[in-house]
Amino acid sequence: MLHALVTAGPTIERMDPVRYISNFSSGKQGYAIANALKEQGINVTLVSGPVHLEEPQGMQVIHVESAINMHGACKELLETSTIDMAVCVAAVCDWRPQVYHRQKQKKQAHDEHATQTVTFVQNPDILHMISHHENRPKLVVGFAAETESMLDHAREKREKKGCDWIVANQVYVPRHHVEEGEFSVFNNEKNQLCLIKEDEVILFDLMDKYKAAKMLVAEMMGAGVK
Ligand code: PMT
Repeated sequence: MLHALVTAGPTIERMDPVRYISNFSSGKQGYAIANALKEQGINVTLVSGPVHLEEPQGMQVIHVESAINMHGACKELLETSTIDMAVCVAAVCDWRPQVYHRQKQKKQAHDEHATQTVTFVQNPDILHMISHHENRPKLVVGFAAETESMLDHAREKREKKGCDWIVANQVYVPRHHVEEGEFSVFNNEKNQLCLIKEDEVILFDLMDKYKAAKMLVAEMMGAGVK
């Protein structure tokens, strides 16, 4: 039985006991891909950041919080099982606050012009680690959410991160600013995927995230991974 690793959802990076930075990923696209792979009879391990979705059945789900947690869980999985395919859908925070303050940080009293500086350090890149691991899955698929020059930026990420395919999707405007005809892929029910292989680009229609997942999984099943 083939074994697939799917990452999904956001990561959250704590600043102090009450604050964090994160992003708008809902996990919907990643969970849909995990379910579509399971329906093809694949053994799925889903490594999920914090989301508000129903727990998927019939697969192992590992819940994590931060990019470092997600990196550790994926690395351990590669080192303890044979992973045939990996799909990195998670919107992993590229940075985390350099310092975690054990006490809630206070604002400066009554000074509305005061500024606060937070220094961020870079998080480990999970997709890069998976693509270069000695137990590298035969098919590694990354995602790229882009706000401009989608194809160029996604192609660049495919090269830099060393994955086989990358799936580009366009981020338009924040959801509460969405006007008719526009949408943000984050936390939306629909997505338009553009699958970029080494020498082929396939642009799917805008569709429900589960249908989009099935289209991508059909491509993966045709990739000859045994
Ligand atoms: O969760 P939804 O609301 O359904 O939204 C779906 C989605 C928009 C989150 C998803 O379709 C998507 O595009 N996921 C990738 C989001 C992203 O911003 O990727 P990126 O361009 O920052 O990263 C590129 C790739 O590297 C991704 O495969 C990402 O998982 C991976 N990565 C990034 C940083 C990091 N430190 N480690 C990683 O593995």
